[in-house]
Amino acid sequence: MFEFKEKSPLLNRDQFLFGTATSSFQIEGGADLGGRTPSIWDDFCLEKGRVKGGDDGRKGTNHFHLWKDDIDLIEHLNFDAYRFSLSWSRIIPARGQINEEGLRFYEDIIDRCNERGIKPFITLYHWDLPTYLEDRGGWINRETAYDFAEYAAVVAKRFGDKVSSIATLNEPFCSAFLGYLWGVHAPGYKNRRMAFQAAHHLMLAHGLGMTELKKHAPQTKNGIVLNFTPAYPASSSASDQLATARADYEHTFWFSDALFRGRYPEELINDEPDSKPCMMPGDMEVISQDVDFLGVNFYSRQLVSLSTNGYKVQPAPDPKTDIGWEVFPKALFDLFQDKFSRYDKLPPIYITENGAAYNEGVDANGEVIDAKRIEYYQQHLNEVERLIDEGYPIKGYFAWSLMDNFEWAEGYSQRFGIVHVDYETMKRTPKASAKMFKDLLASRS
Ligand code: NOJ
Repeated sequence: MFEFKEKSPLLNRDQFLFGTATSSFQIEGGADLGGRTPSIWDDFCLEKGRVKGGDDGRKGTNHFHLWKDDIDLIEHLNFDAYRFSLSWSRIIPARGQINEEGLRFYEDIIDRCNERGIKPFITLYHWDLPTYLEDRGGWINRETAYDFAEYAAVVAKRFGDKVSSIATLNEPFCSAFLGYLWGVHAPGYKNRRMAFQAAHHLMLAHGLGMTELKKHAPQTKNGIVLNFTPAYPASSSASDQLATARADYEHTFWFSDALFRGRYPEELINDEPDSKPCMMPGDMEVISQDVDFLGVNFYSRQLVSLSTNGYKVQPAPDPKTDIGWEVFPKALFDLFQDKFSRYDKLPPIYITENGAAYNEGVDANGEVIDAKRIEYYQQHLNEVERLIDEGYPIKGYFAWSLMDNFEWAEGYSQRFGIVHVDYETMKRTPKASAKMFKDLLASRS
């Protein structure tokens, strides 16, 4: 149940923005169409054993052909904003080339959003690095950060006067650590040094990209989206407390300290030489320049205990969503109250992703009654209201995701959408949670 106060800012259209989110590789399809060249995720899907069930993300949910209907659906559900990402290799299919057809694809989407009163929030990089850059070393190669800045400039010049917001990166933690340390995301390496080097080059790409966005799109809100899975000790032992701090330095503070303190956490770097990337003088100044907003992606917390490698994530307790992540809404509140207390000042914040994987299908009446997802959203929105009450500058909230889609290494097996997708026919069916948003948003003043 929502526990909003009568005059809650969440119930006032002028004070708080509601949106829904997707990303290019997860929904687009049309991988070989419109002049797009492959990304590391196209390649990863083709490698045996990388994606559950051998699912092929290159078909997405056929948004490439169904985008008009998808935007109409967002309007129908009364959302104020739509957060989506651009495919880098659709816009720049080879180094030094610009694909006008790719730019036009996104321009049409942006124009339709604006015509329907939906604010476009675009993300430049949501994990789909062009293959031609991976062939040159990907995020291990410092030059990739400069290529990113050129791409940012192309997008900012073209769309700066049409979009409300541009985020440089989505969840660089996942690109660096899932892609280079745990090996479960593209490009699939398992090497600690590489992971921290990739992390630094991603943050450098963010900084160099911000410089371009400020130059060519000064009127949009420009920033970055980070994911936060705050750590809690599995027991009250001193060793588990230590492990918790360690997990936070690696997961949470590595990226946010770089942004807000202009340095990586010494607690980690001093302790472990592998976590000290090569960098050049001046990098941290570029990385820590002001952002107009921070995007916070939040799903769950993690329970950690001490292990020989520093810390170990414990199995999540109940209640859990179908992907196995604990439902623990209070961690969103604690993130701001406890973890962010190390920063003097936070910029305006958008919750750029929050949502749950529950895999129920269409019932005999043609409906999807996703009661647990509704409860998840209500509990988390209650926490958002508490945070605003405490004075945190949270300006909006995006439900992940508009529709079921390709959930990376999980393939199509995990459904995060508020709209169900039949992967045979690509038919979209709004779930009960979509109706919940539609009614909530219509009830605002
Ligand atoms: C984070 C990512 O940004 C998104 O791509 C993913 O589908 C969701 N979280 C759920 O895992």
